[in-house]
Amino acid sequence: MTDWQRVSADYDRCASEYIHALGRVEQMALPDRELIGQWRDSCSGPLLDAGCGPGHWTNFLCRDDREVVGVDLSEEFIGHARAAYPEAKFKCGDFSQLPLPSDYCGGILAWYSLIHTYPSDVPEVLEEFARVLRPSGSIFLGFFDGKDGEAFDHAVSPAFFRTLEGMGDDLRAAGFRIIQFHRRTDPDSRPHAAVIARKPNFFTP
Ligand SMILES: C[S@@+](CC[C@H](N)C(=O)[O-])C[C@H]1O[C@@H](n2cnc3c(N)ncnc32)[C@H](O)[C@@H]1O
Repeated sequence: MTDWQRVSADYDRCASEYIHALGRVEQMALPDRELIGQWRDSCSGPLLDAGCGPGHWTNFLCRDDREVVGVDLSEEFIGHARAAYPEAKFKCGDFSQLPLPSDYCGGILAWYSLIHTYPSDVPEVLEEFARVLRPSGSIFLGFFDGKDGEAFDHAVSPAFFRTLEGMGDDLRAAGFRIIQFHRRTDPDSRPHAAVIARKPNFFTP
């Protein structure tokens, strides 16, 4: 079984529990809703929710007839998301080969979905994200802040901490320009980190 097949099987197995506990945007932290809402409104063009899980953030990105697509490994999540959020499109797929054309979208949200990618494989995923993102498009990554690359005991599937510095270096190496860093620590939770980066275009590198 490959790494992504294991992650997919782990989420398929826990999908209904996950949807119950974390599958509605109202259950998400208010600062995250604010940040993601501001980021959504700053982007133009179609948006991709990469690793969309149950699809609640994908639906949150749907405003003013904007085209939004959620992609996830888990068929259980994609089945739920299609039924729950008919305004968005959903596709089963893997980050290493996104089922989307080059230069398709103006923004990519990858909210706690790169946490299951081995840190050594993150550069390859960022290259694939850069392929489907238009020049000047924006990427917004959320993850758990901890010793860079250290594995931790995630409730569903093995996962890895990253630092803002480590993720920032990977983004720069993939050609992105860092726009914002965020950090937050909530009681009884792992520290959170998020980064917004932009794919340069020819005129404003
Ligand atoms: C912690 S959940 C986050 C889900 C959602 N973004 C959220 O914030 O609730 C991680 C999700 O990323 C998806 N995922 C992990 N690795 C992936 C990959 N290589 N390709 C596509 N989806 C992936 C998993 O299937 C899972 O739905």
